Formats: sequence, C-alpha cells, structure tokens
Amino acid sequence: MGEGMTALVIPERVPFRIDPMQWEDVPEVMGIERRAFSMPWPMRAYEQEILHNPNAHYLVLRPRAMRAVAPVLPPRRMPILGYGGFWLVPDEAHISTIAIDAPWRGRGLGELMFLALVEEAIARGANLITLEVRASNLVAQHLYRKYGLEVVGRRPRYYRDNNEDALLMSVEGVRLPAYRQRLEALKARLWDRLAAAGPIPAAPIDTN
Ligand SMILES: CC(C)(COP(=O)(O)OP(=O)(O)OC[C@H]1O[C@@H](n2cnc3c(N)ncnc32)[C@H](O)[C@@H]1OP(=O)(O)O)[C@@H](O)C(=O)NCCC(=O)NCCS
Repeated sequence: MGEGMTALVIPERVPFRIDPMQWEDVPEVMGIERRAFSMPWPMRAYEQEILHNPNAHYLVLRPRAMRAVAPVLPPRRMPILGYGGFWLVPDEAHISTIAIDAPWRGRGLGELMFLALVEEAIARGANLITLEVRASNLVAQHLYRKYGLEVVGRRPRYYRDNNEDALLMSVEGVRLPAYRQRLEALKARLWDRLAAAGPIPAAPIDTN
C-alpha cells in the first residue's frame, strides 16, 4: 500500500471515495464530531492521533468528484461526509470512532466507512476487530452485527455524560476465508446500493 492509499478498492460506479485523514481535514471532521457525539473529542485528540500515534489509522469519506457533477473542484476539496478510525495493537484493531454527518445517514455511507475501516485493518494485519458502543445505540450495533461483531462484554457506566453502559463488541478471524467471503458478499450488495443512488450534489452540506 503506497502513501495516501487506502486498502478498500471502490468501483468507479460508486460516487464516493475514502482517503487517509490529513491534518488539514480536522476542522471539517470536528464539525461533524460536535454534531454527532454528546462527548466530542477535542481537536488536540485528533492532533495526537494523526500526527503522533503510529498505531492510529483514520479515514475520511467524500463524494467522488465526477466531471459532470463538479467540474471545478479537485477531489480533495469535496466536503467530508463522514470519518472513522482505529488503533492497531498488534493484530487487534480497536475501532475508536465512526460517524456520518446526519443529513447523509441511512444511505449506506456508515456501512461504507465501516467496511473501509475493516479492510484497512485487515490489510495492516488485524485478525480481530473490537469496539465499544453505547448500550442505547441500536443503529450502530445493528451495523456492527451485520459485519459479524458480537457482544462480548459490558463496561458499566462507561460514558460519563449519562452513566450509560458500553457494550464491547468484537469479531475474530477476519483474515480467514470464511470472513473474507462474508465481506465480499456484503461489499457486492453495498456497491449496488451506493451506485443506484445516482450522482450526488457537488456542495450538499453546510460544514459550519
Ligand atoms: C452509526 C452510523 C455511522 C451509521 O451510519 P449510516 O450511514 O446511518 O448507516 P447506513 O445507512 O450505512 O446503514 C448501515 C447499517 O446500519 C444499520 N442501520 C442504519 N440505520 C438504521 C436504523 N435507522 N435502524 C436500525 N439499523 C440501522 C443497519 O444495519 C444498516 O444496514 P442495512 O441498511 O442493511 O439495514 C451513523 O448513524 C452515525 O454517524 N451515528 C452517530 C455517531 C455514532 O453513533 N457512531 C457510532 C459510535 S460507536
């Protein structure tokens, strides 16, 4: 994998792209972060992750700049619609965050981001994927179950804003053929779904 590349190969017909998160992306990411989470990370957390943590891998999701849609904008200037990241230590990928900006939810983009994280983790040597999720966050849990994660533990009162429990979810053996097959089947369905959505507007969201 070269510099600036990500593991997930997205077909041309799918109008979205995934890139490694850059330091310049962080102000835009922070906008989504503040809207998506009741306890948003401070900007310095992203600074630490991106600039100083060699085990951290963060990705951003944007519309693909297509000629007919946005002739003047180079790909990197398209708005960020979502992001996610994980820590890899040593063959365990711990997904630390994932979010899609609210107007863009429910169209398969959270799944695209999650798939990109899983593929990136596998390409970098992960065999286990794990994460914590709020007990009340059924949407996220549903997504994770779709990708084979199961509840393996509970951390009581883990979230300090409302004393909510965290569920610990994980899936093992993601390098094995059975899981690869599952991923390929999910991927094929996701490409059809995302491609069927058609071209997306060039400047769909207010990122303030
Ligand atoms: C969790 C999140 C990333 C999902 O993104 P999304 O773009 O809305 O989800 P998608 O449209 O890609 O849906 C993927 C899967 O998620 C689940 N899902 C999505 N919306 C759902 C809903 N309203 N009810 C139940 N499950 C839902 C389903 O499993 C769905 O697969 P399906 O379409 O085959 O049923 C998004 O809701 C989000 O950013 N939430 C706020 C931040 C957050 O909670 N992050 C997770 C922290 S652990």
